[in-house]
Amino acid sequence: MSEEIAKISYNGNTYDMPVVTGSEGETGINISKLRGQSGLITLDPGFKNTGSTTSSITFINGEAGVLNYRGYSIEDLAEKADFMEVAYLLINGELPNAGQLDDWEKKVSYHTLVHEDIKKILDAFPAKSHPMGQLGAVINALSTYYPEALDTDRDQEAKDLTMTRMLAKMTTLCSWIYKNTQGHPYMYPQTKYGYVENFLYMTFGHRTEEYVPDPVVIDAVDKLLILHADHEQNCSTSTVKIVGSSKANLYSSIAAGVAALWGPLHGGANQAVIEMLENIKKDGGGMQKWIDKAKDKSDPFRLMGFGHRVYKNFDPRAKVIKKAADDVLDKLGISDPVLELAKELEQKALNDDYFIARKLFPNVDFYSGIIYRALGFPMEFFTVLFALGRLPGWIAQWKEVNDLSLPIGRPRQIYTGPQSRPFVAVKDR
Ligand code: ACO
Repeated sequence: MSEEIAKISYNGNTYDMPVVTGSEGETGINISKLRGQSGLITLDPGFKNTGSTTSSITFINGEAGVLNYRGYSIEDLAEKADFMEVAYLLINGELPNAGQLDDWEKKVSYHTLVHEDIKKILDAFPAKSHPMGQLGAVINALSTYYPEALDTDRDQEAKDLTMTRMLAKMTTLCSWIYKNTQGHPYMYPQTKYGYVENFLYMTFGHRTEEYVPDPVVIDAVDKLLILHADHEQNCSTSTVKIVGSSKANLYSSIAAGVAALWGPLHGGANQAVIEMLENIKKDGGGMQKWIDKAKDKSDPFRLMGFGHRVYKNFDPRAKVIKKAADDVLDKLGISDPVLELAKELEQKALNDDYFIARKLFPNVDFYSGIIYRALGFPMEFFTVLFALGRLPGWIAQWKEVNDLSLPIGRPRQIYTGPQSRPFVAVKDR
């Protein structure tokens, strides 16, 4: 951290604020003492330019299209590591050696069973309820089965067990939610399978017949989970952290993250992309009409899967995923007209002045839905898959808040309502 100073002048006074420099050279002004000294707060709707924390987990350079987990590039991790290694890296800070990885996989696999009563909770949901609503509820419910996790100041071993349980049970919860939406009997986890294999087995396997997950599908899902595993202080992660900062337990903090992820401007975009492409196909009126709609400021329609708060040149995950989409469809022998539409839309938008001027490029979700669809997941389940991938990041970021005992998150505001006024009794109003 450097000793540089930024000066803020206001009303004839100058205030010195320390400049904080990160390990990749990012700089920020630490204004935490500004209000005490000057009465001023900073105002930044949507936190577009606000650093809520220092963090040693994930680095993004949005201009250069760089995404690193703990210093390792997303391209290297997507190509050379598997999801369990990446989860270990995010949560523990270093890649595991062979022994540590074996131990980790066994531990996670051992904790995949969930309490039988979870089935009763799932059974209580209406048949057509959205899987993300079910997911948030059952994750929060885990806190009632593990009340010891409510004490977030326990020793490290106990906290590690809670984090392992959360990671392990997520595959079972997601698969059971899928089964619930299909009206099919739940499948139990098998410790002989790896994380992704187990998830696919419980999701697509049936009690009536042998099911062996296809290695092509395992690879594709593993890669997608890695690409989604963390993304520094995005909407859902910031939600997990702010909830965790009040010393709420891990399960409830993650459930809050699920709620934030659900929105169509965040994780819900992967579902929204396919819905949009389906509409374009059904409409049959050509692509230009939709591009024009997206550009029309009087029309709320936006091109789903385009644009990103941080990436302003390209989303490095979108590059990896576009290739993965081509590979998977090719290997599975699927030809999807929606993929062709996606490619046409991408080309048209990338050559359109509106999108060029605003640096709007396809984001990770532009292609993820196409892969999920090819693998047989229903559209409403796509955001659950995003949550499954994002889970190690949420856990790692919650752990960081807990380890560093960061102060409770509590932003300020500039009040714009009525000034103080006398109360008027109802008979006189
Ligand atoms: N289609 C059309 N115009 C867009 C789009 C889009 N998808 N995205 C941004 N714009 C325009 C805005 O209207 C605005 O135009 P203006 O300057 O003329 O007013 C300009 O580009 C800047 O947009 P902002 O909303 O300020 O960008 P912001 O960083 O706040 O939003 C966001 C980013 C929410 C992702 C936005 O681009 C969007 O809504 N995209 C579609 C939804 C989506 O794909 N979300 C997934 C994000 S990735 C993820 O969560 C994994």
